[in-house]
Amino acid sequence: MAKTFLCIIFPLLMITISQTFLVTQADPRFLQSVKLNPMKLKTEKLSHFKFYWHDTISGPNPTVVNIVQPPVNNKTKPTGFGMINMIDDAMTEKPEIGSKLLGRAQGFYGQASQEEIGLLMAMNFVFSTGKYNGSTLTIMGRNPVFHKVREMPIIGGSGLFRFARGYVQASTHTFDLKTGDAIVEYNAYVLHY
Ligand SMILES: *[C@@H]1O[C@H](CO)[C@@H](O)[C@H](O)[C@H]1NC(C)=O
Ligand SMILES: *[C@@H]1O[C@H](CO)[C@@H](O)[C@H](O)[C@H]1NC(C)=O
Repeated sequence: MAKTFLCIIFPLLMITISQTFLVTQADPRFLQSVKLNPMKLKTEKLSHFKFYWHDTISGPNPTVVNIVQPPVNNKTKPTGFGMINMIDDAMTEKPEIGSKLLGRAQGFYGQASQEEIGLLMAMNFVFSTGKYNGSTLTIMGRNPVFHKVREMPIIGGSGLFRFARGYVQASTHTFDLKTGDAIVEYNAYVLHY
């Protein structure tokens, strides 16, 4: 019996042990454990920011520049499909442009819909006041501007908004059909640390 153990079971046991050893000693670069919360993140919180976004096309200091015009031909859609504007819009506390400046919305929007005015918005909210000075939120979403409330995702952030996610709801406060100038109320709901 002892002989059988030595001849058959013992080698099998050794193979099993060495295999186990190989698995646990696998290349350490392949898989490493990470300390829990190495960045010392605090509890995630939900913040609500409300401000007014000023898209100014007319006057001596426009904050909107048209950078792409759709080609003019008989296939051009009446919605202006293909147009792209670059923006550096003021974000203020109240609807008045002279009210407290909270930051700027920088980025661009393009007319991405053939059926209605449906913009693709890609912009950063660059905050310039208080503790969020220098921190940014990135918005990327669809904005059918003539709808009462438009919802767009917040896809990230920087500074105090690292790991941010959430959404904004935009509703037009005033829109000048002649000039195209718009003041839009933004309510941003953002989960961040
Ligand atoms: C559209 O333009 C093309 C040439 O660019 C022309 O052949 C065609 O007849 C035009 N169609 C209409 C409906 O005007
Ligand atoms: C925001 O930060 C910039 C750059 O650090 C600084 O120049 C500016 O004074 C700050 N503004 C406020 C309102 O704290």
